[in-house]
Amino acid sequence: MVVVGGSVVVVLVDVLVDVVDVDVEVEVDDAAGSASPMSLLQAATVPTRNATATRRRANEAGRAGGVRVTPTSLTDRAAQLKSWCEAVTMLGPIRHARRTDVTAMIAIAEDGDAPGVDEGYLDFVAAQGRLMVGCEGLDGPVLGFAGSIPVGGAAMVTDLFVSTLHRGAGLGGALLSAVTDGFERRMTCSSAHPAARAAYARAGLEPRWPVLVLQGDAHGGGGGLAEGPWCHDRHELIDYYRSTGAHIGPGHVVHRAVTGGAVHRVLRMVSARPTLDAARLLAALPAGEPVEWCVPARSPFAERLVAHGFEVVDEDLFCATPGLDLEPELVALHRGLL
Ligand SMILES: CC(C)(COP(=O)(O)OP(=O)(O)OC[C@H]1O[C@@H](n2cnc3c(N)ncnc32)[C@H](O)[C@@H]1OP(=O)(O)O)[C@@H](O)C(=O)NCCC(=O)NCCS
Repeated sequence: MVVVGGSVVVVLVDVLVDVVDVDVEVEVDDAAGSASPMSLLQAATVPTRNATATRRRANEAGRAGGVRVTPTSLTDRAAQLKSWCEAVTMLGPIRHARRTDVTAMIAIAEDGDAPGVDEGYLDFVAAQGRLMVGCEGLDGPVLGFAGSIPVGGAAMVTDLFVSTLHRGAGLGGALLSAVTDGFERRMTCSSAHPAARAAYARAGLEPRWPVLVLQGDAHGGGGGLAEGPWCHDRHELIDYYRSTGAHIGPGHVVHRAVTGGAVHRVLRMVSARPTLDAARLLAALPAGEPVEWCVPARSPFAERLVAHGFEVVDEDLFCATPGLDLEPELVALHRGLL
């Protein structure tokens, strides 16, 4: 047992050696900062026979304290111990996001190819659910963030991003745990990033069906978009969309982008007759203006849009814990907020 300072983070590292297991428990005082507890272990440069199992066990133990450790070299014993040491001292505990973290979170999301994350969006996630960040040390720079909102009693993971330089060190998995802990039922729209798929699988989310982002043109000729009031659930989400200036109809939410050309994004559509309602919506918008929808691929509605000239411009994968699914009437959704 090695103790450095207080006991803010407790990490149990099992170092497998050739013949016997050596269990080392480390208590890390985050305030101690550069006081590297693992440096005390560097003397123990023991051969590692089962590096994968060691890493998994170390990571599982580390998750309890909000950190994970990942050896970078499976052959160099000293480098392995050093990387554990660095991981433990570098990553502070996962904490709730603060207003001062917003700029860093937006930059990390853009880095992760998600340009739609802005302050209003992050405020909504924080107010409705959990918005957590992982930092370097206690008050160092933000290295990654994750969010979740409750939807029908399940945690919908809205965001999961780690800055490019800090990927693969366990922060994504730890953030995911932080925003889903306490929820048995979990879901998300996962990107194709291999680490995202692996992290979600470990959190019990199984791949279900692709979510297609479809783009095509409006037909025009109709009499304008039908006005609300919204006739379905998720009123808090509809209020948020209203605050962004989106048009709210009885069963659809359409946002018109003011930059980057005229693009109408159908943020939500709930309908038992999607083909009819979609035809009305496309007629209500000016002819030739681009329209984007995010549509569950399992719905025959997706096929119909493609048959009418819409193209797939991006694709995610809906993942959820067993037994959890979305109602079939949800024919257009937001990939983060559902
Ligand atoms: C997805 C992301 C958040 C993961 O963060 P991370 O800190 O790199 O992830 P971790 O180190 O915690 O690894 C998570 C899992 O992915 C695995 N993994 C990490 N990098 C990997 C890679 N390049 N290929 C395959 N698997 C990988 C890890 O082994 C781990 O699996 P395990 O728990 O079974 O051991 C990060 O890669 C990222 O920001 N990607 C770009 C943005 C994005 O696509 N976000 C997802 C939005 S849905």
